[in-house]
Amino acid sequence: MKILGIESSCDECSAAVVEDGRHILSNVVLSQVDFHKPFYGVVPEIASRKHIEWIRPVVQDALAEAGVAAHQVDAIAVTFRPGLIGSLLVGLSFAKGLAWALAKPLVGVDHILAHLYAPHLERDISYPYLGVLVSGGHTIIARVERSDRIEVLGTTIDDACGEAFDKVAKHYGIGFPGGVAIDRLARTGDARAFHFPRPSLHKGEAFYDVSYSGLKTAVIHQSDQFWNGKSDKSLANIAASFQKTAIDILADRASAAATDTGLHRIVVGGGVAANSYLRERMASEQGLEVIFPSLELCTDNAAMVAGFGYHAFVEGKVSDFTLNAEARVPMFKRAYP
Ligand code: KG4
Ligand code: ZN
Repeated sequence: MKILGIESSCDECSAAVVEDGRHILSNVVLSQVDFHKPFYGVVPEIASRKHIEWIRPVVQDALAEAGVAAHQVDAIAVTFRPGLIGSLLVGLSFAKGLAWALAKPLVGVDHILAHLYAPHLERDISYPYLGVLVSGGHTIIARVERSDRIEVLGTTIDDACGEAFDKVAKHYGIGFPGGVAIDRLARTGDARAFHFPRPSLHKGEAFYDVSYSGLKTAVIHQSDQFWNGKSDKSLANIAASFQKTAIDILADRASAAATDTGLHRIVVGGGVAANSYLRERMASEQGLEVIFPSLELCTDNAAMVAGFGYHAFVEGKVSDFTLNAEARVPMFKRAYP
């Protein structure tokens, strides 16, 4: 069974053809990074306009690369939430138009669940496991029962982890996307030069929650206060110290959740899963099997959408044409009164 996947939730315009939820026949990802770079962040209007220009050729390329004609696909899976609303609407409207024209089923896909599905495209992974989703908009620790059933154990109470990387990189002019630029610069820095603060959150129900706005503020506005007084106050040292703190916050909560739930298999997904220190640190956790997708499947791509969509489709979870885009999914972000 061949599923065409379409992804346009942020600044990657992507289409893919995946067979039986596992074999990637094509995965075309066109990044808009050069258009957003001057602003050190994704500009929503630029993103939607680029998606409008690119979506048709990207889908055509994905079909051509897979050697599949449009009428040969079994269903069209598309990200409908969460993300930038204008960007989501481009992919969703295109998918609806194509599904209508070809008389094919439409399958709406949640982007967060698709990220967690990404490593399933590369190997067999059995459920349940602890899912750790770290991207530009979300930071979620969840018990994953199956591809479409997760229980959120912890989430960020303010900024997402990737967002903190992006904001710190923007403030210091390190580069865009911030995570990639900081990861690269941190390799030459001393992570002990600054002792940045970690959040002290309340225990109890929200024990696995994380917070990044305090760390971001400390790194941007108060770095001197946390300097060890010996090493250079270089950008590389700031980047390395920030990265270590940001990743340790997450990795410590994920390890605690694994211990407490007895879920010793952890699957990490989302753009920040590409971080070299996170990969190194999680790999060294004793007694845990930690699975990361390959680097291409960490950041936004349509193969994960098509792969996830396959399972929804075979279970009859087809969407109708009233499906609308949703910018936010309440359970993925903690709403504090
Ligand atoms: O999953 P993704 O492509 O888009 C969203 O769904 O948000 O994630 C993008 C995020 C950005 O914040 C980017 O800075 C971060 O992932 N990122 C990284 C790395 N590569 C991308 N963060 C840390 N280290 C990296 N190597
Ligand atoms: Zn994403």
